[in-house]
Amino acid sequence: MKVFITGASSGIGEALAIEYAKRYKNTDSAIGLIARRSEHLQKLQSTLQTTYKIKCAIYPLDVRDNAALAAAAADFMQQHGTPNVVVACAGVSRGTLTEHVEDIAAFQAIMDINVMGLVHTFQPFIAAMRRAVQNGEVAQLVGIASVAGIRGLPGAGAYSASKAAAISYLESLRVEMARDNITVTTIAPGYIRTPMTDVNHYKMPFLMNADVAATKFVNAIEHKRRFVVIPWQMGWVARFMRFVPPILWDFAMKKAPQKSRANWDWL
Ligand SMILES: NC(=O)c1ccc[n+]([C@@H]2O[C@H](COP(=O)([O-])OP(=O)(O)OC[C@H]3O[C@@H](n4cnc5c(N)ncnc54)[C@H](OP(=O)(O)O)[C@@H]3O)[C@@H](O)[C@H]2O)c1
Repeated sequence: MKVFITGASSGIGEALAIEYAKRYKNTDSAIGLIARRSEHLQKLQSTLQTTYKIKCAIYPLDVRDNAALAAAAADFMQQHGTPNVVVACAGVSRGTLTEHVEDIAAFQAIMDINVMGLVHTFQPFIAAMRRAVQNGEVAQLVGIASVAGIRGLPGAGAYSASKAAAISYLESLRVEMARDNITVTTIAPGYIRTPMTDVNHYKMPFLMNADVAATKFVNAIEHKRRFVVIPWQMGWVARFMRFVPPILWDFAMKKAPQKSRANWDWL
């Protein structure tokens, strides 16, 4: 098994890397990890290699840099072959309000990382995956979206818009890739306990630990699900959200808690 994961330095991406390493420990498997924080990747690489005896390559880079991603993909494929699964998990979430000029940079960064980051991650692998499938291998692209992309959440215009774009983009890609038997899976998480949600000071329904979520994510990937919401309770909330008329949505969201606009160091 060969797996390539972005956003692997913390939270869901890190938990996914560990889950894959557990499932494929002591085999000739390889995992490629991407994020900006090199020291976090090095620590995870050492855990995967020593505890799970799995090959691991790390590439500290920014998913906004498509040339860097292409170089990382080429290096991984040269060393280990074409990945069976590529998971685009890197993402950022911060509160944004359109009325503040200083939030324009945050809007741009969130769209670039959460949307263009998916394109930059998948693009370098598609031609090789197509050839791998012709040779009988399994190839799958996985995008981590969010329930926040189903309806617009107040105070999170950039994040909601980025995840709505991610959901639509992944759906287009799924149909395009079906011709080549490359599976595309969209995972829309509800609330998962990670550094991204640790800063939220409001109640998060059905909050799930990252290791538990990672097991469910990998099960969904292995079952080649097209679109899945995890935890499942959020799936029912998401189905309901889709059909709430705008007038009721506006009323329900009037007093909804909003994500903080603080912390700009990640730009
Ligand atoms: N936690 C939730 O409840 C939840 C719910 C719905 C969707 N999601 C989505 O799940 C994904 C993972 O989030 P998480 O909760 O695990 O958050 P997290 O712990 O903050 O992890 C985010 C990961 O993305 C990486 N990243 C961010 N910007 C990057 C960039 N420009 N280039 C490369 N890597 C970048 C971070 O690494 P570096 O900072 O080292 O670059 C980190 O590894 C995100 O797409 C998020 O939107 C999470």
